[in-house]
Amino acid sequence: METIRRTEIKDLFCEKAKELIEKEVCVKGWVRTKRGNKSVAFIALNDGSTIKNIQIVADIAAFSEDTMKMITTGSCLCVTGKLVESMGKGQLVEIQAKTIEVYGSADVETYPLQKKGHTLEFLREIAHLRPRTNTFGAVLRIRHNMAFAIHKYFNDKGFFYWHSPLITASDCEGAGEMFQVTTLDIENTPKNEAGKTDYTKDFFGQSTFLTVSGQLEGELGATSIGKIYTFGPTFRAENSNTPRHLAEFWMIEPEMAFYDINDNMDLAEDFIKYLVRYALDNCKDDISFLNDMYDKSLLERLEGVLKESFVRLPYTQAIDILAASGQKFEVPVSWGMDLQSEHERYLVEKHFKRPVILTDWPKEIKSFYMKQNDDGKTVRGMDVLFPQIGEIIGGSEREADYNKLTTRMQELNMNMEHYQWYLDTRRFGSCPHSGFGLGFERLLLFVTGMSNIRDVIPFPRFPKNATF
Ligand code: 4AD
Ligand code: MG
Repeated sequence: METIRRTEIKDLFCEKAKELIEKEVCVKGWVRTKRGNKSVAFIALNDGSTIKNIQIVADIAAFSEDTMKMITTGSCLCVTGKLVESMGKGQLVEIQAKTIEVYGSADVETYPLQKKGHTLEFLREIAHLRPRTNTFGAVLRIRHNMAFAIHKYFNDKGFFYWHSPLITASDCEGAGEMFQVTTLDIENTPKNEAGKTDYTKDFFGQSTFLTVSGQLEGELGATSIGKIYTFGPTFRAENSNTPRHLAEFWMIEPEMAFYDINDNMDLAEDFIKYLVRYALDNCKDDISFLNDMYDKSLLERLEGVLKESFVRLPYTQAIDILAASGQKFEVPVSWGMDLQSEHERYLVEKHFKRPVILTDWPKEIKSFYMKQNDDGKTVRGMDVLFPQIGEIIGGSEREADYNKLTTRMQELNMNMEHYQWYLDTRRFGSCPHSGFGLGFERLLLFVTGMSNIRDVIPFPRFPKNATF
């Protein structure tokens, strides 16, 4: 028997598919639904290449009872047959099945994705199977497209992809939210003279952690090969059970020599707009699906971001606006506080009605490496705030002056020995430079319109959960 080459289902819905009409095709995929009557079965088949299902029409008399029984929701099939224009509503083409091979059946009693319309909470409990739903197929295809667009954007702009280590001895954000990495037997660690764990006996000869950010090593890239970006996983052991925090998330961190804070803001704004435009241009079917199913204002919000320039506003003025708003916030507003989600969203959604970049933050609530302003109180940090999300980007111009930087680090009681390699960027040919970090999953929240960050990554990590 002559075997026909498999066609991916997405290719049955493109312009070129016209050439295949009235020809025999072969498709492979998983059954989404099967319905029909005694003489004919209609099977919706999906192979993940597109949100669209191809309808298989099977004349029941032409197949064995056993085969028909094995074709259940979730089962995997290889189907050959003629591609024809569909008479029915809802699809342009369908396949008149000639042969059906059941690669794997799925038990009707135990396959969890029987009916449509499962809640996102339920799907989180079966995260290993949820990519087979329309929603997660759409989200994960968009996730891929955004990752690709990120590399394309930076490559086209002459940035180099830089690999910061994942295991590190330094705490970039200084917040102490790090997961320890050790090969010591934690029930019985070797002890030093002071009776404490002797980390010189550990794998790396010192205590080590999973990185919270690739920035510090990224700065070594910027101050040598000019413009770099990282794109990798980062880890934070913060006990935040919120819809915007993960313990393992992906971050994109560009770092550029000779960029000041304004250049940095220009890049951040251009970068995000590029990504949103890319999503609208390349993920139309998936975004439209999510728009219709979950969030009817998604498309409008995405288009909206492209139209307007982002507001750029010093923190101090933002505090004034919030204080004068007459709004009752759960956490009252005062200068020096870190902004809560409710404050960020008020500024973006109610006051300005577009994205806002807040600059010049109190130094006490920002990291040690940010460039100090002359007022002695604020630093040249920038947070990009987005509708629905709040903070999507955090960044700054970096403190390039060796003395100012080390003074600040001493004020914060940092272990200077751990950062000698980092300080060499300021000792040898120091230069003005800037960078920022975009939370990949926060970007995906915005682009997909999903409301929980656990639903934009295949296998979310959060407190008390590391299954799958
Ligand atoms: O503001 P953050 O902590 O900044 C940094 O890590 C800097 N080193 C970045 C830099 O300047 N190179 O984190 C940056 C972004 C946040 O704006 C947010 O989008 C995301 O990372 N983020 C998280 N996303 C998901 N879960 C978490 N727990 C996150 N923490 C931060
Ligand atoms: Mg931040």
